[in-house]
This record gives sequence, structure tokens and C-alpha cells, in this order.
Amino acid sequence: MNRIKQISNLIEKCQCVYDVGSDHALLAINILRDKKAKQVVNIEKNWLPHNAGKTNLAKNHLTTKTLNVLNDGLVDITKKVFIQPNYIVIAGMGANNIVNILEKKDPKINRNAIYLLEPNCDVDVLRRYLAKAKYDVVYENVCLDRTKFYQIICAKQGTKIRKISTYEAYFGLSEKQIDKKIWMLYLKACKQKIEKKKLYKFSHAYAVLYDWLKKRVKK
Ligand SMILES: C[S@@+](CC[C@H](N)C(=O)[O-])C[C@H]1O[C@@H](n2cnc3c(N)ncnc32)[C@H](O)[C@@H]1O
Repeated sequence: MNRIKQISNLIEKCQCVYDVGSDHALLAINILRDKKAKQVVNIEKNWLPHNAGKTNLAKNHLTTKTLNVLNDGLVDITKKVFIQPNYIVIAGMGANNIVNILEKKDPKINRNAIYLLEPNCDVDVLRRYLAKAKYDVVYENVCLDRTKFYQIICAKQGTKIRKISTYEAYFGLSEKQIDKKIWMLYLKACKQKIEKKKLYKFSHAYAVLYDWLKKRVKK
């Protein structure tokens, strides 16, 4: 199933979703068509995708259900947008960029907002940041779009710093995974990649991950 559709499926009926890095507004179109939210706030820092998103929304007659804001992530967002989010999606960009957006977010954003985070690389960097910055991971979902796997992390602001292991940083926790079948396929693909490239020889982290994977994935 399409990655954007799978992110939209994780959203429960609500008032408002913020999509940071909304690009062509495909997520907003999915969410609004599925009647998951009354309003979507699309946040873009670049003119081109901002305009492309607005054009797409107009074509789909969804302009009145969206706000399209040019902004650097969530910096001072409450000065421009007066509706608070139930969900904040930050997807399809590197983990370092997601961390940067979270780090600089407006402190006046609703503390109960649910974050759906889908990095396209360096997922370990994001999980380590979430643990250090006192976010709790509520659930996780590995999704498969054609031949590519994506990890989606659902997090909420918590109160305590958490310690996480190397394998948790890379894969999350099995008990938090929604789709156990796809998760096992993902672990199998990761194990095969480490074996094929003999990555366990090159770094301690890969050796730890490989040991962990061998215990969980059968041949
Ligand atoms: C590769 S696209 C991903 C689009 C979509 N979220 C997805 O999952 O397919 C990344 C988008 O994020 C935007 N972006 C990157 N950093 C941003 C930031 N700090 N604030 C707002 N938008 C940002 C880029 O302009 C680009 O349109």
C-alpha cells in the first residue's frame, strides 16, 4: 500500500492535522477524502512545493478545508495558525531534519498532540533524540510501499528521559509494532542486507544488530 495512505490510516478522526513538509499536499488530500480530520494545515518552507500543494488542493476542491502556510517547520507557528493540532505529521525527509524541526518547535503547541514521524534515513538518530528529549513512543508501524520499507514512529511528549539500546534505536520495540507480519519481513530484509554485505565486520553497531536479528529471524 502507498506510504502516504498508510500514514493517513494511522490517524483517528479528529479536528486538525498539521503536515510539516507537505510538498504536493498528497497527505492532506488523503486525510480529507477519508474524512479523518476537519482541517489540515500544510506547512512548507519552500515556495515551489507550497504553490504546488495549493494547486492540487484547488483541483480536488479541498481549499476551504486547509490552511497553507509558508514557514520553517513549527517555528513560531502559533503566531500564524490559531487552530491547535491533534496530530503533527513530519514525513519523507531525513531524521536530522525531523530532529531539527522538533528541536525548534513552538513551545505553545498543544502538549497532547500526537506526532507521526517517518524519516527516510537515519531512523536511529530520530529514536535517540526522542528518548533524550522526553518523548514517549506510543506505537510504531513499518510500512511496505512497493519494494521499500518505511518506519513510522508515533510519539507523544512525555516527562522522562528514556535510555534506549542500539537495536531499539534502529528497529523500535516489537511490542509497539502494529503490523507484526510486515515488521518480521522488514527484519528479515535487514538481516539479509547485513549478511550480503558482511556489515557485521565493519562496525560494532552492525555486529550488535546482527546478533539481535539472528535471534529473531529464522532462515
Ligand atoms: C521529500 S518532501 C516529502 C513530502 C511529504 N511529506 C512526503 O512524505 O512525501 C520534503 C518536503 O519537506 C519540505 N521541508 C523540508 N524541511 C522543512 C521545514 N523545516 N519546514 C517546512 N518544510 C520543510 C521540503 O520543502 C519538501 O517539500
